[in-house]
Amino acid sequence: MNLIVAADSKWGIGKDNGLLASLPTDMKYFRDHTVGKVVVMGRKTLESLPGKKGLPKRTNIVLSANPDFEAPGCKIVHSEYELFDELSAYDPDDIFLIGGASLYNRFYKYCSTLYITRMEGDLGADAFIVNIDEDEDYVLVSESEPITENGVTFRFLVYSRKSEGLSRARTLNF
Ligand SMILES: NC(=O)c1ccc[n+]([C@@H]2O[C@H](COP(=O)([O-])OP(=O)(O)OC[C@H]3O[C@@H](n4cnc5c(N)ncnc54)[C@H](OP(=O)(O)O)[C@@H]3O)[C@@H](O)[C@H]2O)c1
Repeated sequence: MNLIVAADSKWGIGKDNGLLASLPTDMKYFRDHTVGKVVVMGRKTLESLPGKKGLPKRTNIVLSANPDFEAPGCKIVHSEYELFDELSAYDPDDIFLIGGASLYNRFYKYCSTLYITRMEGDLGADAFIVNIDEDEDYVLVSESEPITENGVTFRFLVYSRKSEGLSRARTLNF
């Protein structure tokens, strides 16, 4: 499983159930990595998307404890067990965890590659992920040149889990 997120200098990722910045090049980066793949998200992230519906051209899996929750174009799972049971049908390399904070923080350890768009500055978030630089299991393997859009400077960082085998085993045998 992979993770993709945009985080500011304080590892803030959202505010008022929305994103911190509008970055067209980052949206393209997100599309390029996830189209044709499986995306996993929490119910609040789904409800932050346009039309509150699943992303087109992707298999959308949404976690909600509410047994009555439904959303167009989405497979709803109701527990971590149900989520991993559903994910076992797919190649782990094709699965992308796309948020939000609760899912990133709970499941990033199961991810072998982290695609992190790192935005400079404190953008006033109310939702945060853990500081990946402080997790010794992950190593930074690439970093793009900086890009500035809409007043925000950002870089595409890729982190790799040191023990991919363990990560895969955990994903498959959860
Ligand atoms: N910067 C980025 O790249 C990025 C990407 C995505 C999201 N975000 C931001 O992240 C923020 C939202 O994060 P969030 O943590 O508030 O919400 P979230 O993770 O998107 O969704 C939380 C919901 O997921 C369900 N859930 C979580 N864990 C569960 C479990 N173990 N079992 C069953 N259901 C579970 C629950 O839904 P029910 O209440 O229905 O049970 C819970 O309320 C927003 O600001 C959003 O814009 C940022």
